[in-house]
Amino acid sequence: MLTNLFIILFFCFSCEKEAILNEAFPIETTDFSDPHEEDTSTPPPIINLPDPVFNYANLNLPPFFNRPDVQDQDNEPDSNPVTNWGATLGRVLFYDKALSLNNTIACASCHEQESGFSDPNMFSTGFEGGLTGRNSMGLTNARYYARGSFFWDERAATLEDQVLMPIQDHVEMGMNLEDLTEKLSQLEYYPELFEQAFGDSEVSSDRISLALAQFIRSMVSYQSKYDEGLRTSPPGMNPGNVNFSNFTASENLGKALFFSRRTNCAACHGSINFVAPRPFNNGLDLVSEDNGVGVITRDRREEALFKVNSLRNIEMTAPYMHDGRFATLEQVIEHYNSGIQAHPNLSPQLRLPGNEGPNNVQPIRMNLSEEEKRALVDFLKTLTDQSFLQDERFSDPFQS
Ligand code: HEC
Ligand code: HEC
Repeated sequence: MLTNLFIILFFCFSCEKEAILNEAFPIETTDFSDPHEEDTSTPPPIINLPDPVFNYANLNLPPFFNRPDVQDQDNEPDSNPVTNWGATLGRVLFYDKALSLNNTIACASCHEQESGFSDPNMFSTGFEGGLTGRNSMGLTNARYYARGSFFWDERAATLEDQVLMPIQDHVEMGMNLEDLTEKLSQLEYYPELFEQAFGDSEVSSDRISLALAQFIRSMVSYQSKYDEGLRTSPPGMNPGNVNFSNFTASENLGKALFFSRRTNCAACHGSINFVAPRPFNNGLDLVSEDNGVGVITRDRREEALFKVNSLRNIEMTAPYMHDGRFATLEQVIEHYNSGIQAHPNLSPQLRLPGNEGPNNVQPIRMNLSEEEKRALVDFLKTLTDQSFLQDERFSDPFQS
């Protein structure tokens, strides 16, 4: 940074001097080449990839990931299984700013590893400084979503469709796919990577999509404190009914509350990946500014429904909700405790028993004590997985 600044300053200074010189000796302006100009072509980047490549394809998952209900959530298609070279190419693409029109933004600019692959800002900044309309989503365990649809409003039918959309988005990266494949084929590090991943060096938008999707599906967190608790307690137990020996009293209380009828959290954030089977409305607003799924499907009954993505690493993905309105988990808990709004499409799990339909909606009030609220936050933090957040396999391969 400092050296850049120095070069720019030096450059301006020398321009100025030259302008003065040219004024004094106007005859000498025939030579258009500037002897003071530095070589502005940037040197090829250095990419750090291990030899042999990292293992992405065969993870040593704990046994509870092999349960049928968890296997059923997996959206990996037979046509695009994760391979070590495919995910390696995906990793390079994910961190490469060349995917944006002016080489300023990579996927990772809005999906930071230490933030669970989300963005600590409420809205993200795109290639020309514009802001996205929604909060960036964390990508932890995105593969465990049975419907396989992506974005808050689920407008992408598959992950393979989704990954090409930010590249072409006018705010985010501003490219078109033709220029993108042309541009990437010119970069000397890609032909080799495409050959390793797909058998020959052809760069195509199809292959870019396959590789990025493989990399995202390889982002599986399974080493949180919660996983450790599951691993060391009797299999098949409802996790709400058993105290984990590695948990504090508060974490166990929060766990019991999370899986209880009183909060119903687990009715929507279910299974070991804490995802819902479909989009829901959690009563953020009486009248929603952003109608989410309903805008895409044009079905009034789906207005203000949003995707419920995994709560794994939720501690790191602040701010929360599709518009990033809550800065802290405490605020999220207070919303559920006392703030649920009577939206006509409020999901049944958050209504008083027997309350259905769009009229006379009656949200539940949880009446949690301060201790119980703290316990829920403490429990959510047990879903943080430091080994995932620091895993080199998911880190920036470009040497800066
Ligand atoms: C300028 C910021 C920005 C960039 C660049 C960006 N994203 Fe995103 N990403 C977002 C935002 C914001 C959302 C949520 C948008 C919405 O739902 O409408 C999102 C959502 C996603 C999702 C959906 C997750 C889910 O569970 O449904 C995936 C996957 C994703 N991005 C992957 C990528 C990939 C791959 C790239 C690079 C090709 C990328 N993103 C580039 C901001 C960005
Ligand atoms: C009716 C189903 C439902 C119930 C019950 C529910 N949630 Fe949610 N939750 C959602 C939906 C839908 C979203 C996303 C809403 C949005 O962004 O508009 C969400 C978002 C969240 C988020 C933020 C996720 C993010 O990535 O920003 C957290 C944290 C959360 N819920 C925790 C809880 C807790 C804790 C409980 C129990 C007290 C709970 N939820 C109960 C449906 C539910």
